[in-house]
Amino acid sequence: MAIQRLEELARKYAFKAVEADRRGNVEEAIKYYNRVADLLVKIVKLHPELPLKDTYLEMSRSYRRRADELKKHGLSVTIGEEHDQYSIDEFILVEKPSVKWSDVADLEEAKEEIKKAIVYPAKRPDLFPLGWPRGILLYGPPGCGKTYLASAVATEIDAVFFIVDAASIMSKWLGEAEKNVAKLFKRAREIAKSGKPVIIFIDELDSLLGRYASEIGGEVRVRNQFLKEMDGLQDKGKKLLLFVIGATNKPWNLDEAFIRRFEKRIYIPPPDYKTRIELFKMYTKKLKLDPSVDLKELATLTEGYSSSDIEVICREAHEKVIKEFFEETGGLYGEPRAVTMEDFLEILKKRRPSINKNIIKAFEEWARRFGAV
Ligand SMILES: Nc1ncnc2c1ncn2[C@@H]1O[C@H](COP(=O)(O)OP(=O)(O)O)[C@@H](O)[C@H]1O
Ligand SMILES: [Mg+2]
Repeated sequence: MAIQRLEELARKYAFKAVEADRRGNVEEAIKYYNRVADLLVKIVKLHPELPLKDTYLEMSRSYRRRADELKKHGLSVTIGEEHDQYSIDEFILVEKPSVKWSDVADLEEAKEEIKKAIVYPAKRPDLFPLGWPRGILLYGPPGCGKTYLASAVATEIDAVFFIVDAASIMSKWLGEAEKNVAKLFKRAREIAKSGKPVIIFIDELDSLLGRYASEIGGEVRVRNQFLKEMDGLQDKGKKLLLFVIGATNKPWNLDEAFIRRFEKRIYIPPPDYKTRIELFKMYTKKLKLDPSVDLKELATLTEGYSSSDIEVICREAHEKVIKEFFEETGGLYGEPRAVTMEDFLEILKKRRPSINKNIIKAFEEWARRFGAV
């Protein structure tokens, strides 16, 4: 069957599931949730090259979760309009992050830009008679600090931080996604009106609003609602401390109408040599290191690795030692040995860099055309 047909079928099942769920028809809902979950997995298996692959898998998992939930609790958990509170809060993580500026290695330029665009206006709005950019786009290869940096901003200005994950909007807000985007902004405005800064952080922006040939779940309407809300932010005479930060690994999937709404567009590059040294220092600070460990050498060897890769390498090198310790001694007494350069090299051999030169070129090219700081 052609992929479009499969996607259409998945959409049909999803609507049936959500509708049955709303009506309280548990059995039917479970049946269709499972069907759509199976089908999405099948689609991905047949078309591993799909750009929406990860989104579909995530959708599949959340449909499965919903089916399991219903199986377990029956009707006691409901979704739908009559449960506004529930539906909004489940998809938006409102949390107080604890990441500090100093936890974020380098990215100095990005930090400066964000200070100008968010931190200073949030602290002294009276000093900004001309307003400030409401939309900020962070783009760059995965694992280099977009999400991390956004959390640090929220900590810095003590903001209410709404994390909106595009994939979960698509699956759970199916059929009423655009209404919920409106609700999200309404809720954010209410909080901002009370004088508290609010950051709406939309992760994986591209999967919410990108241009794809085939779509499951009404992304076009979500996109339009979103544009409307973004425009509303700029028009309002009253200056609310409401900031929208979007993050994407695939800025080229955004269309121009959308890009325009994000007045500041900041590239979050992969870590350079100096930053990699800093990262290795940061992530080995709490480890017992053997004198053989040469962090500079490790930084040289990790060209093309993301910040997140480096964090993982440090953790795995340490885990290797711990595993050995438990296997050799049972782990009850004594201390594990120090982590050696050898350990690091062994881990490095198994873990390939996640960022290649072509992708960096693509980002730099996009930055030349659309970057705005
Ligand atoms: N600049 C950085 N400094 C320190 N740690 C980082 C940095 N960038 C990424 N990390 C680590 O990698 C993890 C994943 O980074 P994340 O911000 O989610 O990447 P992205 O959103 O760009 O894909 C973070 O939670 C953090 O532990
Ligand atoms: Mg991220």
